[in-house]
Amino acid sequence: MRDATPQTVYLKDYTPPEYLIDSVELNFDLDEQNTLVESRLCMRRNPQSTDPGMSLILAGEDLELVNISLDGKPLAEADFAITPEAMTLHRVPQDRPFVVNIENRINPKANTALEGLYLSGSMLCTQCEAQGFRKITWFLDRPDVMTRFKTTLTADKSQYPVLLSNGNKIGQGELEHNRHWVGWEDPFAKPCYLFALVAGQLACVADNFTTMSGRQIALEIFVEQHNVDKCTHAMQSLKNAMRWDEETYGLEYDLDLYMIVAVDHFNMGAMENKGLNVFNTKFVLARPDTATDSDYEHIEGVIGHEYFHNWSGNRITCRDWFQLSLKEGFTVFRDQQFTGDRTSAAVKRIEDVNALRTRQFAEDAGPLAHPIRPEAYIEINNFYTLTVYEKGAEVVRMLHTLLGAAGFRKGCDLYFARHDGQAVTCEDFINAMEAANGVELNQFRRWYSQAGTPVLTVSQQFDTQAQQLRLTMQQSCPPTPNQPEKAPLHIPVKLGLLAPDGSPAPIVLDGRQHEEITLNLTQSEQTFVFDKLARQPVVSLLRGFSAPVNLNMPRSLEELAFLLQHDSDTFNRWEAGQQLAVKVIFDLIEDLHQQRPLHLNALVVKAFNGLLAEEGDDLSYQALLLALPDESYLAGQMPVIDVDAIHHAREFVKTTLAHDLLDDFERVYRIHHRDESGKFSADAIGRRRLKNACLSYLNQLESGASYALAKAQFEQARNMTDQIAALSAIVNSHHPDKAECLDRFYQQWQREALVIDKWFALQASSHMPDTFATVQRLMQHPAFDMHTPNRVRALIGAFSQANPLHFHAKNGEGYRFLADQVLALNTLNPQIASRMVTGLAQWRRYDGKRQELMKQQLHRIVATEALSKDVYEIASKSLA
Ligand code: ARG
Ligand code: ZN
Repeated sequence: MRDATPQTVYLKDYTPPEYLIDSVELNFDLDEQNTLVESRLCMRRNPQSTDPGMSLILAGEDLELVNISLDGKPLAEADFAITPEAMTLHRVPQDRPFVVNIENRINPKANTALEGLYLSGSMLCTQCEAQGFRKITWFLDRPDVMTRFKTTLTADKSQYPVLLSNGNKIGQGELEHNRHWVGWEDPFAKPCYLFALVAGQLACVADNFTTMSGRQIALEIFVEQHNVDKCTHAMQSLKNAMRWDEETYGLEYDLDLYMIVAVDHFNMGAMENKGLNVFNTKFVLARPDTATDSDYEHIEGVIGHEYFHNWSGNRITCRDWFQLSLKEGFTVFRDQQFTGDRTSAAVKRIEDVNALRTRQFAEDAGPLAHPIRPEAYIEINNFYTLTVYEKGAEVVRMLHTLLGAAGFRKGCDLYFARHDGQAVTCEDFINAMEAANGVELNQFRRWYSQAGTPVLTVSQQFDTQAQQLRLTMQQSCPPTPNQPEKAPLHIPVKLGLLAPDGSPAPIVLDGRQHEEITLNLTQSEQTFVFDKLARQPVVSLLRGFSAPVNLNMPRSLEELAFLLQHDSDTFNRWEAGQQLAVKVIFDLIEDLHQQRPLHLNALVVKAFNGLLAEEGDDLSYQALLLALPDESYLAGQMPVIDVDAIHHAREFVKTTLAHDLLDDFERVYRIHHRDESGKFSADAIGRRRLKNACLSYLNQLESGASYALAKAQFEQARNMTDQIAALSAIVNSHHPDKAECLDRFYQQWQREALVIDKWFALQASSHMPDTFATVQRLMQHPAFDMHTPNRVRALIGAFSQANPLHFHAKNGEGYRFLADQVLALNTLNPQIASRMVTGLAQWRRYDGKRQELMKQQLHRIVATEALSKDVYEIASKSLA
């Protein structure tokens, strides 16, 4: 909890650690409420440190000291001091190695923050990133202190038959009173944020993997007994990831054992602890009847992500937490590539860009904007953001685009070779890219230090006589907190040209001809001249979304429809459809504001008609082409967000399309509606996706036929993708059987926590008028629990972040509700509480009345006593 004013930590203040820990031995005597930790630290002064002090400061929080000695001699009261955040040993040897022995007690059951050692159900587990280890014992809790860990776990044999930690198992034995112990040793030095232990009654699903050099790796997934039938996909995903990293990056796994444990209570998605990943059950458990196709995809992606961290994160880690994007941006990029290779690269790219533009762009345009390498923080847990992760991945992707796949790989090879076993910086990563490719990336470095989404404004001029197209690009970047002025960035702009018949037009630039080109925009304004064009081409710009920018290029509806039909770049083809819909929806919003009757432009109907008639082979892609832009994406484009108008205009387009193209939607639905439960081929997934896209349109009609269709699918579904799509249709309509279906679904799945999360989230994000009352009622539901982050995200998170229409209710009830929940969570789980505050951070984007109501709640939060650092930082920065 917060004392007076929380301290800000600055990147510019970084200094090397004063001491090093060569090795540590940990002994845990595990107990739910009374765990004894013994730690033996072999330490010495860091020759690199210039600080002349004689004292040693170890970080530690919520610990009860039992014993402390230095080189075997118990310390007297006067030899050390303890504060709520640290312990200082006033005098330690400077000229030789020394040993510190500490014994302390902790209470895992009281640890509702789920950081450090805590209880999830009946199992004990840890989460140490970023600074959870200090809640286990006193330590140099910083990523540039890398240590070899030896860990012994002792516990009751019946309650904790499985005892796990990092590395290799080196011994085990029985003790009296039904107790036992297991010893673990991790041969790789690591920072303490990668430490983990797990103890509990766990079932193990085992397999193995043979690496490219022929080594056999044991793979073990630990889950509660009732979940052993949901691990097949996770195991296969792990093997796919291991193979992929060998083939794509030449990186092989290094220990003989790889373990994954799935826990119900987890603040985030998963954690890459060396050899012992701890996962949120959401990203492990899947069975066709309990998990959707997108759950399957996310599981493979997150398993890949944590696996890839073994190199990009563990073998080479971050010097300090400001460098977080070094491991996270890079690893997200790697998991995106992996999923793209495993599924449809086109679909994956669109999904990633969609998420980036709706969510990260909002963060980058608001009061919490920060560079991918932040310069200051109060609570580091607040910086596991869309910017550090997703924009960070875009920056790595741009390097990949600029250097080419082979050049990028050379840079990665050099980075891994140079820095194996070290804690390094983003700068080291760029240096390796430069050195391996003989290039200079000085201007590109600004992507690491500059916040905000650049705006790229493009104008074109065609000269028929000269057969020339002049493309002028201007870049600018709006001011962000503490960064009023921005310097121009190095922006790779991928471009193609289309002839009037839709075929590719040659790109002739500076006498050289290309089919596609990546332009280097480095100045504030630059003009590119393309020659030998008999007729004016249509420009396809920023192909594949080659840079995380807002593109501002005036286009007619006709031009967008043309690109939607002809662009060979799958991303830009989809994007043309999105921009077409955006334009049309904004015209309708204007009509709403002027109280004019609404009419849907015939061009849109025609374009959708064309899409529905298509018989392409990537059906998932086709389904994406049919999806209208999200309400939150539309909100991001509006100077003053009008949630009601956005909702009504978008619904009008959807309903009109359903009316006008009823037969087409029905036909496509019928073609693809078949039972392929348990089949996860791209085809089967695509059919489900396309069919359910049609269902969602047909559902707009609120007709007997649409009700019957949704109900039939709900009843017959044998896979979760179809069942939840049908239930979602039912919930988002006046379906007469809504209550019955919701109840049946609950009865059917009450023992599957992850499915019940869906049940909560679906109701919380409904656009039907009674949603707020439903949310309040669900808060009282026996299955709702503030101690379970997944549940909190499913109900409070879904309502405040995925239901703009009702969260932003004019009377402010949504805001008051959210603030109430933030304050309730603040004492229980500060990390989750602070995630929930973000719903209020964007207050400047709304009308005056809503602004006042949102600010009121933020002020109320900031004024609360005993506010956590986490919540304080987000709420106070939102108001600044
Ligand atoms: N490193 C983990 C990952 O792979 C996430 C850890 C998040 N930690 C936190 N304190 N929020 O993404
Ligand atoms: Zn990560």
